[in-house]
Formats: sequence, C-alpha cells, structure tokens
Amino acid sequence: MSKMKSVAMAVVLSLTGTAAHADGSAANGAQKIKTFGCIACHGRDGISKLPEAPNLAGQVQTYLTSALRAYRAGGRKNEMMNTVAEKLTDSDIADLAAYYASIAVSVTPPPKP
Ligand code: HEC
Repeated sequence: MSKMKSVAMAVVLSLTGTAAHADGSAANGAQKIKTFGCIACHGRDGISKLPEAPNLAGQVQTYLTSALRAYRAGGRKNEMMNTVAEKLTDSDIADLAAYYASIAVSVTPPPKP
C-alpha cells in the first residue's frame, strides 16, 4: 500500500471509530466526572468553578468530543487539560461529552440596542 493510501485509510478508520463511540452515555458520564475530577473545575452542573475554566453545560456534544480528543492528542495545549485527558479512553470521552451536553441550559440574550 502506498504511503498516501495508508494515511487515507487511517483517516477513514479514525472517523469510523469516532462514529462508533459518538453516542456515549450521560449516566456513565455522571459517574466519570467524579472519577476523573472534572467537577472540581467544571462543576456537576457544567458551570465553571475556576476563573480559567469554561462552562460546559449544554455544550454541543461533537464539540466536547473533539476538544477532549485534541487535548489527549496534545494538539490543543493546556497543562491542566492535557494532564486530565491523557488518561481518557474513547468511551470515557464519549460518556463525558454526553453528560455535559445533556445539561439543560436556558439563555436570556441582552435587550436589543
Ligand atoms: C484542574 C482543573 C480542570 C479539571 C480537573 C478539568 N478541566 Fe477541563 N478545562 C480546564 C481549563 C482551565 C480549561 C480551558 C483550557 C484552555 O484554555 O484550552 C478546560 C477546558 C475544557 C474543555 C474545552 C472547552 C471548550 O470550550 O473548548 C473541555 C471539553 C473540558 N475542559 C472537559 C473536561 C472534562 C471532561 C474533565 C474531566 C475529565 C475536565 N475538563 C477536567 C480545567 C479543568
């Protein structure tokens, strides 16, 4: 197989892998936020407990998944998140993303100028 072909194949396989784990379980995620300590910084409610940490409540699930994968792979750099994410399996990531995405949020935009 040529190098180009094997690279293309690896991309296809990794995309297939993503799809297989895309669902995740919010119920499992509810346990894993404690196991992995996410709650210390992002809260059980997905609202930041630390000035540097973002809110995760109701965030788009595919975005959460790709952010966690990027921290794990090291392409996205943040000392805290790289350390946390390096321990996560694909199914941990799917469950954690499902959990934070499942938190209902409501928003009130500012009044129109
Ligand atoms: C020690 C505090 C800390 C812990 C523990 C922690 N995080 Fe974070 N998290 C942060 C900080 C700080 C950022 C912002 C990093 C940056 O600037 O990229 C962040 C960013 C993120 C983002 C990216 C959000 C975005 O809007 O792009 C996700 C997703 C995330 N964390 C999920 C988790 C999950 C899931 C866990 C548990 C496995 C976890 N974090 C544990 C501090 C923490």
